[in-house]
Amino acid sequence: LDYFNYKNGEAFCEDVSLTSLASQYDTPLYVYSKATLLRHCKNLLDAFKDYPTLACFAVKANSNISYLSEIFKCGFGADIVSIGELERALNAGCDPKKIVYSGVGKKPEDLEQALNRGILSFNVESAFELDLVEQIAAKKNVAANISLRINPNIDAKTNPKISTGLNTTKFGLSENIIEAMLIDIKKRQHLRLTGLACHIGSQMIGLGPVKAAAQRLVFWAKKALALGLPLENIDMGGGLGIRYDSENPPELADYARTLICEVKPTNLKLLIEPGRVIAGNTGVLLSKVIGVKATPEKNFLVIDAAMTELLRPAMYAAFHDILPVKAARIGKKNSRTFDVVGPVCETSDLLGEGRSFENPAAGDLVYVRGAGAYGFSMSSNYNTRPRVAEVMVDGSKATLIRRREKLADLWREEIF
Ligand SMILES: Cc1ncc(COP(=O)(O)O)c(C=O)c1O
Repeated sequence: LDYFNYKNGEAFCEDVSLTSLASQYDTPLYVYSKATLLRHCKNLLDAFKDYPTLACFAVKANSNISYLSEIFKCGFGADIVSIGELERALNAGCDPKKIVYSGVGKKPEDLEQALNRGILSFNVESAFELDLVEQIAAKKNVAANISLRINPNIDAKTNPKISTGLNTTKFGLSENIIEAMLIDIKKRQHLRLTGLACHIGSQMIGLGPVKAAAQRLVFWAKKALALGLPLENIDMGGGLGIRYDSENPPELADYARTLICEVKPTNLKLLIEPGRVIAGNTGVLLSKVIGVKATPEKNFLVIDAAMTELLRPAMYAAFHDILPVKAARIGKKNSRTFDVVGPVCETSDLLGEGRSFENPAAGDLVYVRGAGAYGFSMSSNYNTRPRVAEVMVDGSKATLIRRREKLADLWREEIF
């Protein structure tokens, strides 16, 4: 559930009309609902309240600092994949002791900076990373907390581009090397193995793969404990899907029950790294129709938002609902189908295919739903397009949380 609704035929975010936001802040514009965000955070924490759990928000899903600070105020930690995300999380008030650092290519200087910041743990994804963390910890004469990110070779049954739990992908450590690694880590005085982790994919619609992955982690946790390693937690990653179209994702309660049921016999703390399920439906991308055109084959609605603002349709053929801000324009009577496209010079700049609109015209406002996760955070300056502004709505108040870039910002670092 979210707080984007029609009132008297016009789309609102909470108590603010999208039309008024477009006139105040211009388009394209990311609009987030604070009530939706807080509700999603609460629902997730409630689902896990009966078992010791730390939810680390996947910062990559939405990394705006004001946005993140609302999440951290609810008690979340952070799952980061870069030093940039580490510094964003800290700026947003995240407790470093609640930060886990994932990613296949952490450089020595990244590891050192994160160690200096006192993060909870490094989710180690390769043998070379294990050596690097140890060297850096030894230089500082400390023991670094690490988790092994295990790749359980489980098909998450999602889009191949966001599947991360198969041995054909670059992520994590294959199970055939885990036992030897556990024995090896025991001998390394500058490493403390405090966790085992996995993240098998994103936008998962079934719980079968989640359960199977938890079982593999529990199997390895028992081995690690039997070896006398100081294991404290099992990190099951993120990946729970949401409804963009007609998907039927699991309820949070069922997701929580599945994970807790598997992990509980170990008595270890549960970590999760949710991104999309928190952020996805908290935001929309508001855009203006530039014009309508037709070819002998198709009608096109050309809008001022593009793949530069929302990459998911071009990158994953992802579906996002696209609706008119004035509801009078939805309907069957005079509706025709349009491919909704942006101004970027790529045929893949297609935000929605075959969508119905009734007599759309230049100047009309439309909004793309489900754009709160992997929306702005994946945006780019391709075609020398300034990145857009972001606004957070709280009841009847709208706050600008990121200014629109100016053209000069785009070549500020260029030497000419
Ligand atoms: C390591 C890791 N954890 C968590 C997530 C968050 O996934 P989601 O947004 O699907 O919950 C991702 C996303 O790719 C990830 O790579």
